[in-house]
Amino acid sequence: MSEGIDIRPAKGKLGILTPGMGAVATTFYAGTIALRKGLVDPVGSLTQRGHIRLGKRTDERNPKIMDFVPLAGLDDIVFGGWDPIADNAYEAAVRCGVLKSEHLDPIKGELDSIKPMKAVFEHDYVKKLEVNHTKEFETKWDAAEMLREDIRNFKKDNDLDRVVIVWCASTEAYREPTAVHATVAAFEEGLKNNDPLISPSQIYAYAALMERIPFANGAPNLSVDIPCMVELALEKGVPVCGKDFKTGQTLMKTILAPGFKARLLGMNGWFSTNILGNRDGEVLDDPESFKSKEVSKLSVLDTILQPQEYPDLYGDLYHKVRINYYPPRGDNKEGWDNIDIFGWMGYPMQIKVDFLCRDSILAAPIVLDLALFMDLAMRADRKGIQEWLSFYFKSPQAAEGLYPEHDIFIQQTKLKNTLRHWMGEDLITHLGTEYYPE
Ligand SMILES: NC(=O)c1ccc[n+]([C@@H]2O[C@H](COP(=O)([O-])OP(=O)(O)OC[C@H]3O[C@@H](n4cnc5c(N)ncnc54)[C@H](O)[C@@H]3O)[C@@H](O)[C@H]2O)c1
Repeated sequence: MSEGIDIRPAKGKLGILTPGMGAVATTFYAGTIALRKGLVDPVGSLTQRGHIRLGKRTDERNPKIMDFVPLAGLDDIVFGGWDPIADNAYEAAVRCGVLKSEHLDPIKGELDSIKPMKAVFEHDYVKKLEVNHTKEFETKWDAAEMLREDIRNFKKDNDLDRVVIVWCASTEAYREPTAVHATVAAFEEGLKNNDPLISPSQIYAYAALMERIPFANGAPNLSVDIPCMVELALEKGVPVCGKDFKTGQTLMKTILAPGFKARLLGMNGWFSTNILGNRDGEVLDDPESFKSKEVSKLSVLDTILQPQEYPDLYGDLYHKVRINYYPPRGDNKEGWDNIDIFGWMGYPMQIKVDFLCRDSILAAPIVLDLALFMDLAMRADRKGIQEWLSFYFKSPQAAEGLYPEHDIFIQQTKLKNTLRHWMGEDLITHLGTEYYPE
């Protein structure tokens, strides 16, 4: 058994700030508030529902994760956020149309009280959005200072012990990292010079890290996965992770693909298409925002299938992803997958998946888990990229030179073994030696 690491207890209140108070964020607030009132069950949340096996199978130790590691309690959470649309969380939740009034009405008072702070917003990065609630600033440096002040005021006004940030705002236009993102010094210079290649999400990330606030990125655009932010996170001793919540079609893909690969079934093609009609879908209708999503969605199969090791099975895979904005469906997305596989002696087969899913219902528990685990990581003095949280992301951030792990089962093992290691428990190797006397 290892010694484990020191983790400070979760005393006092935890603030969870979300840049973006749209479908995902409001479904997360509403579900968590309903949960602490005992109105719903925490379905889909590993921190609230999950168990973790400890020791040998014969030990029969299988506590709840929330009883094993010192997580913040739901009653200690205070919500806040920023949005360029002035609606409070109740109004936004009604507009987004994810939850029914039978779930929103009993908690209306609490949702009404969550009012967005003015956002740092730039139209070049999110084109398809009408906004009315944004900060005025001369330089991006000033914008970062304003966000830092917002964070400090939120903490002071609510008497908080700690804060974490989970990015739940619109997907920004695709950009490659450039020289301005290479070092903290270059980035700070760029903030002062209003460099157009610095996006709003990067300004939020910078403000968070300067305030020593953990930052998780739920969207596919670059925010903390650029060298300057990793440098700053390490310098300030703050955990970061991202990116792009793993829900819907990509969740299915990373559940199914490891199975085909385990049985060494070959694959010629994987065609994925979606229709969705929420605001996220509308924003993704802009080709530049879609490009961010496409890159993130396409990346998953390569590391699972390892075409370099199995060129005959996966070397010629044609992988295509489409997203179509179709308003009648609202937040209830439909994702179709056609998978062309082949088996023994090369005989072809097809698999069709039709997932009628609810995007924000799948994403909300991820926001809760990430917020609680990032707070835990901060209290455990973990800094920089938190690869053990890859489980939650379509495009997990990995250390430079390392490929990200996409297989959801390996990701789950890594997450649980990390918790075991931190708490001084043996890692589970599934060797099963308990029935073989020495
Ligand atoms: N729902 C899912 O399953 C899922 C999965 C993976 C990723 N995501 C990502 O999560 C994000 C949120 O999704 P959603 O369905 O809630 O979208 P949404 O459009 O309902 O909400 C996004 C909110 O962000 C706000 N916003 C835009 N720019 C902002 C800025 N600079 N600062 C603060 N707020 C800003 C918008 O006004 C909007 O209210 C999107 O980027 C989406 O791609 C969602």
